[in-house]
Amino acid sequence: MAKNPFLVAIDDGYAQIKIFGSPLDGSEPIRKVFRTSVRSGRHRIASIDGGGFVDCYRAEEGDEFTVSEEVESENTQFDSFHTSTMNRVLAHHGLALAGYRDRNVELITGLPVADYFSPDGAINEEKISTKTGNLLKAVTSISPETKLARVVGADIGCQAVAALFDYALDDNLKPRPGVDISGPVAIVDIGGRTTDIAVISGGSKIDTKRSGTSNLGVLDVYKGLEQALHKKFGFRDTLPIKDLDLAIRTHKIRMWNKVEEIGDLVKAAVREIETQIEREVERKLSSAATMNAVVFVGGGAALFPNAPKQLRNGVTVEDPEFANARGLWKSARLQQRKQGRNAA
Ligand SMILES: Nc1ncnc2c1ncn2[C@@H]1O[C@H](COP(=O)(O)OP(=O)(O)OP(=O)(O)O)[C@@H](O)[C@H]1O
Ligand SMILES: [Mg+2]
Repeated sequence: MAKNPFLVAIDDGYAQIKIFGSPLDGSEPIRKVFRTSVRSGRHRIASIDGGGFVDCYRAEEGDEFTVSEEVESENTQFDSFHTSTMNRVLAHHGLALAGYRDRNVELITGLPVADYFSPDGAINEEKISTKTGNLLKAVTSISPETKLARVVGADIGCQAVAALFDYALDDNLKPRPGVDISGPVAIVDIGGRTTDIAVISGGSKIDTKRSGTSNLGVLDVYKGLEQALHKKFGFRDTLPIKDLDLAIRTHKIRMWNKVEEIGDLVKAAVREIETQIEREVERKLSSAATMNAVVFVGGGAALFPNAPKQLRNGVTVEDPEFANARGLWKSARLQQRKQGRNAA
């Protein structure tokens, strides 16, 4: 009998791609993250093993891409990103990094609320089927010996609804004690580029009036910190995102080969964007008195721990960076159980 495919969720963000999938050999699910850094064409900087360019890919349409933090990324902020060859290549790169090379995989990925639902609140079937169709098309590695995952199925969920699943269900898909999502729950997803606020009632119904997106996120903190560093140290070079990310996590940066303590600059840059996000949440949700909970997710929820504290019912989920990916995986697993199927 053929082996069941592995169920793998991919949350394809502007800043980073998160992969959460069924265990390969052990019993722990696979959790992997990489920066969304992709460029058209083959670039020699990509890592090379005996087989050649391991980070270079060709889509069946003929487009070639290199996925590597060492290349300066093209902007992935274009309307058709979610249904593009670039998106499909990023998915395959993630599957390979996470260890699913040469395996059959059933994918579940997401769309933001504004794409998953039409303005009238109906599910946007056209967008969903275009994204599904795209993911099922082929990608190959430029180096002939390098095998990629075989995507045998693809499904699409809504990012905010996925985060709600992650909040409501534990790893065994059992409802978490004390968590009630029958009434309205707001999901605040603080990402790299945007903060998405979605109010969901009864577990799946979106209140479009109180939901929306603002262009505020962790990348604004990087920008603010870079400006502060320019001012303090008197230089104008653009700093790589990965250096700024590390500086924010460690409160240190290496400049002219000397490690500088920059805790005060980091705190100021974080706080500035955090207060803007707090104001945005208040504009949309007021005091959130009628909500069961306001749930903070996304990488920004890890960086801005004070944001939920402004609300009496504000909470941050554990490992918020992975809330969407883990929730997509949980919802797909639940679906499979209901259908009496069990992917790996
Ligand atoms: N604990 C942490 N401390 C500092 N920064 C963090 C932490 N966890 C995640 N981040 C950063 O938060 C940023 C946003 O991450 P996230 O994965 O939510 O963005 P995204 O989904 O790609 O963006 P978008 O939702 O706008 O498309 C990333 O740049 C990531 O490095
Ligand atoms: Mg995101």
